[in-house]
Amino acid sequence: MNKIAARAFYDALNSDMGTQAREYLSKRQLSRATCVHFGLGYAPDSFNYLTDILTKEGYSTDEISENFLCGISKKNGKPFDMFRNRVIFPIIDLYGNIIAFGGRVMDDSKPKYLNSSDTVVFKKSKNLFALNFAKSALLGDREGGGSASTLVRSGELILCEGYMDVISMHQAGFTNAVATLGTAITSEHARIISRFAKTVYLAYDSDSAGQNATKKAIEKLSEVGIDAKVIKIEGAKDPDEYIKKYGAASFAKILGSSDGEVDFKLKAILNKYDLSNADDKIRAVQDICRMLSDIYSPIKREVYTKRASEITGISEETINAEIKKALRGKASSFRKKQSDDTQKRLLRYDDRINKESAVNPAAASVEERLLGILLLHPELFEKCKELKSDDFITSFNRSVYERLKEIYDSGTSDTSSLNEYFSPEEMGRIMNMRYEREKLSSNGVDALSEQIYTLKKLKDKKDAKSEELSFIDSINKIKAEKLKGGSN
Ligand code: UTP
Ligand code: MN
Repeated sequence: MNKIAARAFYDALNSDMGTQAREYLSKRQLSRATCVHFGLGYAPDSFNYLTDILTKEGYSTDEISENFLCGISKKNGKPFDMFRNRVIFPIIDLYGNIIAFGGRVMDDSKPKYLNSSDTVVFKKSKNLFALNFAKSALLGDREGGGSASTLVRSGELILCEGYMDVISMHQAGFTNAVATLGTAITSEHARIISRFAKTVYLAYDSDSAGQNATKKAIEKLSEVGIDAKVIKIEGAKDPDEYIKKYGAASFAKILGSSDGEVDFKLKAILNKYDLSNADDKIRAVQDICRMLSDIYSPIKREVYTKRASEITGISEETINAEIKKALRGKASSFRKKQSDDTQKRLLRYDDRINKESAVNPAAASVEERLLGILLLHPELFEKCKELKSDDFITSFNRSVYERLKEIYDSGTSDTSSLNEYFSPEEMGRIMNMRYEREKLSSNGVDALSEQIYTLKKLKDKKDAKSEELSFIDSINKIKAEKLKGGSN
């Protein structure tokens, strides 16, 4: 459907309907070749241009609307084209499939860009605009649409904010530029980028929103081990405008002299404070030390400690001491987090397979030991006559017991049919029960009886408790009735 739609938009751009759109694109200095390369199109000013085409191709209104290409009128239930009177930018995945569209108005109306929302084939948190082209450029794959541009170095990607920035950059030879789609960079974006690049140049808008987005992007990228650099765009609001004003050679120059992430953060801190003011200076140095304590490489840390000392006039010894303090603070909060995690695991808060284990941790453990023994030694099953499936407290373990009983009762000890009843995750848990016992030497009748005894005791306790609770409950009910009667 997306392929047919892209074709229809492309045809519209290159027909009489597309005159104004072609003028718009040429006003934005996109060459004919660039438009063709990116498959740009035009959604006519019509409520049914695309919907009619897709319907004729056999798609139902529901299918078209699920793919974000039409909406359905609340008034008369009729479909209407989602993209109208907009220049269209197809979004293409790494395999060359068209998966979504962005559409820009040609005047100042709002919203400036309309993007497909998430569909079965498109997730904006995962896809990047033009990564299909950038990938070929980085891999030097000429046939895949990549150019052998001398401006592209392997392992280096340029990340910018918008469609037009990317297209302008590609046209200028920076065929390694990509953009996120109307959203901030996510961890998934970062992970995907890390498959193609070691270094990412951030070319976000020069306004404060762009600078904040830059900080977030540095964080996300460093999480996956990417070295981020920040291109300082001065005298223009974004890369598209910069290239038009100053040319590709000038952009290559600022790319070459872009700041590393530490310099960028250092400058951001210094911009916040007035170093001639003593209080400000103290805060600035504290911020700097906290930032420096995040650097893993001791060499890099030392280089920037020197730099920070030169800028602030505070000695390297003092800065180092402050960094150590920040590191100690971090280590102790890390230890605290770790022990919280262990606690959680012990308390089974995050058990998704056996959800009831969180409230019945002791019972779940006993049940698992018991099942582990039975999985390991099917012949012991006959010693379990007095164990009823009702004795199990958590229902997941009970269902494992019931399946096992069925299997063993049918005279086989082949447990492979468990696979038909339990998901792979659940099977993992079941295999683990067995494995945990395998590591131990005591898996005989005695160990088994001990587990059965403990489980029955826990069960009795639980039953007594719920009886007690229901007793209290009924007393309270009687009391409440009485009170009601009294007030009447
Ligand atoms: P910008 O407002 O910076 O636009 O939005 P731009 O890319 O410079 O576009 P031109 O040059 O005016 O044509 C940056 C990006 O944010 C998303 C788009 O992906 C856009 O490219 N965006 C912006 C939207 O999704 N919707 C909007 O209404 C605006
Ligand atoms: Mn722009």
